[in-house]
Amino acid sequence: MTNTITLLDAAFRQAIAGAFGFDADPLIGLSQNEAFGDYQSNAAMGLSRQVAEKTGQKTNPRAVAEKIIAQLNLGDMAEQVSIAGPGFINVRLSPAWLAGQLSARSADDRIGIEPADHPRTVVVDYSGPNIAKQMHVGHLRSTIIGDCLARVIEFQQNHVIRQNHLGDWGTQFGMLIAYLRSQSHDADSQQNIADLEEFYRQAKKRFDEQPAFAEEARNTVVQLQAGQSEELAAWRRIVDETRRHYQPIYERLGVSLKPEHERGESFYNPMLQQVVEDLLNQGIAVRSEGAIVVFTEGFENPLIIQKSDGGYLYGTTDLAAIRYRTQKLGAARIIYTHDSRQSQHFAQVFATATKAGWANGVSLEYAPFGTMLGADGKPFKTRSGDTVKLKDLLDEAEERAFDLVSQKNPDLDEPHRRQIARAIGIGAVKYSDLSKDRTSDYVFNWDKMLSLDGNTAPYLQYVYARIKSIFRKAGQQTSSTAGRLQLDAPQEQALAKHLLRIGEIIESITRELKPHLLCMYLYDLAVRFSSFYENCPVLQSEPEVRQSRLALCDLTARTMALGLDLLGIDHPEQM
Ligand code: ARG
Repeated sequence: MTNTITLLDAAFRQAIAGAFGFDADPLIGLSQNEAFGDYQSNAAMGLSRQVAEKTGQKTNPRAVAEKIIAQLNLGDMAEQVSIAGPGFINVRLSPAWLAGQLSARSADDRIGIEPADHPRTVVVDYSGPNIAKQMHVGHLRSTIIGDCLARVIEFQQNHVIRQNHLGDWGTQFGMLIAYLRSQSHDADSQQNIADLEEFYRQAKKRFDEQPAFAEEARNTVVQLQAGQSEELAAWRRIVDETRRHYQPIYERLGVSLKPEHERGESFYNPMLQQVVEDLLNQGIAVRSEGAIVVFTEGFENPLIIQKSDGGYLYGTTDLAAIRYRTQKLGAARIIYTHDSRQSQHFAQVFATATKAGWANGVSLEYAPFGTMLGADGKPFKTRSGDTVKLKDLLDEAEERAFDLVSQKNPDLDEPHRRQIARAIGIGAVKYSDLSKDRTSDYVFNWDKMLSLDGNTAPYLQYVYARIKSIFRKAGQQTSSTAGRLQLDAPQEQALAKHLLRIGEIIESITRELKPHLLCMYLYDLAVRFSSFYENCPVLQSEPEVRQSRLALCDLTARTMALGLDLLGIDHPEQM
């Protein structure tokens, strides 16, 4: 069903055209002050200048606003249209119209959220852990922000292709394989990820200290790149072992990445030489001090795409990936959610791909994020100063949540408490991250994220479970709530208006790539619901009112569930 903003936009556009004979953006947004209305048009100020230029006569914005209102036809949508301040036009939605809209939405599977006007193929590049290393908190943000964006854009019925750009190729593997060989770890021996990480450290040390070993490591890379079976088999074992480590973390986090989404750096290896040749032929890449590089505007240092020893780099692979994604996968939009420290890298890669004509008509978008900080304001570390392993962080989250659940529900059996604790603990970690504007750094705080009040996952989960308990008490299926709504109490109207906005929020997240907009929306939903529930009796009301209020409860629960699903956060029926 059409978003309220879209409806208002169309009506105001028509009114402006009617009043002045030209087309202009009505600049519709939420009202700045709810006392004046629900939505406002901010067009009159700009229009008064435009009208003055066209006619040579001065007009003031309020007069312009009056002319627009005289032409405005909102049908039964609005209860009041008024002018505030210098010329803001405020619209207050009519309760009867709201009730009709909500009834229609409550009968719809998608609660009235429209799919994208023009569905597109969208590649989302996120997570990208590095092989032979444990995932650490540095990968958390990329993984969960990217996953949320993929879910939202997919929900809009775009064709989303998830791409997990694993760091699975490069000279370090020669080192590691040579080391494993020297330790006579043969083909069948299993190393777990912690061992691999330790071997990697040892291998690096030996590489730096022993020229003969360094030489062997380099030869091993050549063998590997030439596809020698023994080296390839060793490499595969390392990749498989790392996957055995990260795949359960994805599952635990409720992240939708599966092995079939893996397109590691190794995948592009066969395409790299062509990338370099094509860029040289187009005159985009040049030789510089033995290397092959691309100079991009605004950056002093060029992007190196081939080293003087012939080796390719991170950027070469990313260029091959763009070409593959646009030409083979048919992407119209490619989104990267990675650390803001990679901004120069992506800017140079995007500029190069664009210049080469590999991204014609394709939108290349980098959605960077800041750093997760400890209480001391420095990047989040363990007490001993090591990077925090993601697995340890999630273990702690579940343990803390388990204590919480056990305090609240000592009578529940342990498996059930563990299950709820997982939803709460993991949800809390994800939500505390997703609810911050991704562009800024944020401070990681256990107590805050696990609190039952405030903008936290447990609070939202609690509100959801509370609504579910209303239906359990009512002994009624949610599906029998349909029917005409009536919105008399101010808290009912406030909740209804907010429920109607979910489609607008989904649309803005798709555009701005900011999951915190959804969190803000859901928190506000929870607050409005709580205020409604405190002020408006549901089960004790007369049958008609009860039915209408149950319908509001149901729509709130469905909206909350959808929102949490899009964030990748569980919502138990009971807490
Ligand atoms: N492996 C990289 C890292 O750990 C992330 C990969 C990002 N994706 C990309 N297409 N470059 O930082």
